[in-house]
Amino acid sequence: MTTIDNSRLSEFVPPAAGGSLISTLGGEYYCDADIFAAEQRLIFEDMWFCAVRSADLAAPGAFRKVQVGRESVLVVRGRDGVLRAFLNICRHRGAMLCTENSGQVKRHLRCPYHAWTYGLDGKLVAAPNLGALVDEKGGAIDRTAYGLVEVALREWLGYAWVCLAAEPPSFERDVVGAVAERLGAADAVENYGIADLALGRRVVYDVAANWKLIVENFMECYHCATIHPELTEVLPEFADGLAAQYFVGHGAEFGDGVEGFTIDGSAGMTPIPGVTAEQDRRYFAITVRPTVFINLVPDHVIFHRMYPVAVDRTIVECDWLYTEDVVAQGRDVERSVELFHRVNLQDFEACERTQPAMASRAYRCGGVLVPSEHHIGEFHEWALGKLGSIGDR
Ligand code: FES
Ligand SMILES: [Fe+2]
Repeated sequence: MTTIDNSRLSEFVPPAAGGSLISTLGGEYYCDADIFAAEQRLIFEDMWFCAVRSADLAAPGAFRKVQVGRESVLVVRGRDGVLRAFLNICRHRGAMLCTENSGQVKRHLRCPYHAWTYGLDGKLVAAPNLGALVDEKGGAIDRTAYGLVEVALREWLGYAWVCLAAEPPSFERDVVGAVAERLGAADAVENYGIADLALGRRVVYDVAANWKLIVENFMECYHCATIHPELTEVLPEFADGLAAQYFVGHGAEFGDGVEGFTIDGSAGMTPIPGVTAEQDRRYFAITVRPTVFINLVPDHVIFHRMYPVAVDRTIVECDWLYTEDVVAQGRDVERSVELFHRVNLQDFEACERTQPAMASRAYRCGGVLVPSEHHIGEFHEWALGKLGSIGDR
């Protein structure tokens, strides 16, 4: 069992109210289609991208189609129980193999154009007259070489993360490391046993805002007192505008008299068994770049995945995860879900209000970050670093 590294909590000293302003990115970074195209290439297609919840594809043949950068990716459960990811492109003449967002096939994935047919492991298994064909060099058809193009897939925390890069970056450094760095302990997240939790509720939000506005909003709490009255009741320190993510290892403490992380502070559900005394009655928020937010509370986990689909549009899929017994017994999770659902609506409305202004001449050079938002500057540096020469325009 892991405990939070308390030595790091000494860093939890509220910054002085004064301090400097620093610049944000310019408005074009949120509304220029060319910059979004570069992000697709250099960020979403090049990093580990959280694609699906593994348990959504429990049975062999279950598949889901997800957009990763410019590519359509098919995640499918094999007959051997293994989850694999492929580019959703037929190797014959390039038709999109699956057009449904999700579904279930028996044994094969069959292209609707000329009926080239692939096994769930991606191999080409059948095509009209396949037996009579030879390859371009006159040899026998190599069914793997003409199979679906596989992309890297890793499962962690009960989700499948894919990477389209020819040489994927280190998952341990970029994904596991991001969580460890935020929590101040390498395996503090393991106490929540996220992979073993069950889905209590899923809400999909279609947000008319650039994905970076949503990340930035999640990273700061300067707005909490203004737009999150229910959240600041449960987490009073948020009313001071300090984001939980500002300090390594710090989780915002529930207010006196608050029994659980619910819309009215009433008791929550069955606590997650591995949660330690240091983690109890606290809320931890984690950003895993580029598109995942993880929220930890003692009785549930709220897992956000973003799918940036356009420079000004992002689909956010949010899962509320509880211990298996809570879901199996059909317990009423309404008050529990309602708190963060309302926070989501409040946040996304703020992002949508901001998006149109990104194209304004008033925001050409961007805005500013107050001291409690300064850690967002590091996110901007990171984004500029990924975009390389685009950032020097
Ligand atoms: S494009 Fe798929 S079978 Fe022809
Ligand atoms: Fe918020």
